Amino acid sequence: MLLGLALCGLAAILPRAEAQPSSSLQVHHWWTSASERRAANVLALRLGEEGVEWKDGAIPGGAGLGAGKVLKSRVLAGDAPDATQIIGASIGEWAELGLLLEFDGVAVAGGWNNALFPTVLALVQHRKHVVAAPLGIHRINTLLYNRKLFARAKLAPPSTWHELALAAAALRAVGVAPLLQSSEPWQVATLFENLVLAEGGPDYYRELFVRQTPQAAADARLAVALERLRLMKGWMASPLDEQPWTGVVRRFARREAAMLVTGDWAKAELKELGVPLDDEFSCAPMPGTGKLHLYSVDTLSMFTQDYAHVAAQEKLARLAVTPAVQQQYNLAKGSVPVRRDADPAQMDSCARASWTAFAKGAQSQVPSLVHRMAADEESRDAIIAEVHRFFVNDAVTPGEVQRRLAAVLRSLKLQHRK
Ligand code: BGC
Repeated sequence: MLLGLALCGLAAILPRAEAQPSSSLQVHHWWTSASERRAANVLALRLGEEGVEWKDGAIPGGAGLGAGKVLKSRVLAGDAPDATQIIGASIGEWAELGLLLEFDGVAVAGGWNNALFPTVLALVQHRKHVVAAPLGIHRINTLLYNRKLFARAKLAPPSTWHELALAAAALRAVGVAPLLQSSEPWQVATLFENLVLAEGGPDYYRELFVRQTPQAAADARLAVALERLRLMKGWMASPLDEQPWTGVVRRFARREAAMLVTGDWAKAELKELGVPLDDEFSCAPMPGTGKLHLYSVDTLSMFTQDYAHVAAQEKLARLAVTPAVQQQYNLAKGSVPVRRDADPAQMDSCARASWTAFAKGAQSQVPSLVHRMAADEESRDAIIAEVHRFFVNDAVTPGEVQRRLAAVLRSLKLQHRK
C-alpha cells in the first residue's frame, strides 16, 4: 500500500514520457480560418500525444497563394519546413526536384493500397513512391443555398442551369440577392470551372484543363460557360468585392444572398459561425454536375533536409490516415475521409453526398483546376488570369478570352513539349 502510494507520488513528479514532446516538426500550411484551425489542431494534438510538437507555420491566403510563394522562398533560402501542405500537381513538382521524403514503409504498414481510394493513392505517389499523406477530399462543385431565403421565394434547390436561372429570377422578385461571390481570382475561377463542367461535361473539362488542347479553347462550350459567368455576375451582391473566402461565408451567414458556389470548407466555417446545416442552409451539387465530384485532396508532404526528423515525419504521415484521425479531422474541415472504409452514416448530409459521389469511382471524379488537381501551377495561373480579366472587365468578349487562352495553351505546349 505504502509502496503503491510512493510510486504514485513518484509518477506525479516524473515527467510522463508520452506527454513530453521529444521532437518537433515545423508545419507549413494555409489553414487560418476557424474551421481550418480546428482541423489542424486535431493533427497537432494527435502528434503531441505521440511525443512530437507541431510548430505551426500558417500563412494566410485562400487556396494557398501566399503559402506557395513563402514555401518557394524558404526552400531557396535553405530553410525548408519539415512538413508542408502541398496539393495535387505541386507534389510532383517538388518531388521531381528530389526534395521530398519517400515514406513507402508507412504506406505499406498502414495498408494504404487497400484503404485509400485509387485516385487518392495515385495523387500521393511520384514515380511509384509515396511522397504525401492524404488528409481529406473537398468537393468543389458545392452549391450552398439558404433554406429560409429559398422558402421565401417558394423554391426547391435547382439541379439544372435552367432551374438555376429561374431560381435567380424568383429570388430577385422577392428582393433577395441570388448569389454571393468575391472577385479574388481563385474564387472567380472556382465558379468558372464549375460552369465549364456543367456545360461541357467531364470529357470536355479534361480536354480543356487536363490535356489543355488549344482546340478545346475554341470550343463553343467554353463560350457558353463564359457567357454564363458574365450573366451570373449580374446576380451577385457586390461582384467586384475582393474579399477573402471567410468574408464571403460570413455574408452568407448574414443572409446577404441566397446561394454560394464554393468548396465544402465553407460548410465547416458556417458551423463555426453557429449556422445550422439542414436548418438554415443545405448543400446541393452545382446544377448540371449532380453525379460528378469536382475534387481537391488535401495532403501533407515532408522535406528531406538532413533526414534529422524522419521518425517524427513518418509519425505524422502515419497518423493522418488512421480511421480515428480521418473521422475527426474531416468533421472539423468539411472535407470527407480519403478511406474507402469510412462510414457514411457518421457523416452530415453534405459530406455523405460528397463521399458517396466520390466513391462511385474514376468516371464520377473530376480534378479541380483551381486546386491544382488538374494541371501544373504555371498553366493553372495563366488560365485563372484570363478568366479573372474577363470577369472584372465587361468589355472583354468571350471570343477574345478564347483566342488568348488558345495562344496561352499553345505556348505552354511549346515550352514543355506537352
Ligand atoms: C484547400 C483547403 C482550404 C481552401 C481555402 C484549398 O485549396 O484544399 O484545405 O480550406 O483552399 O483556403
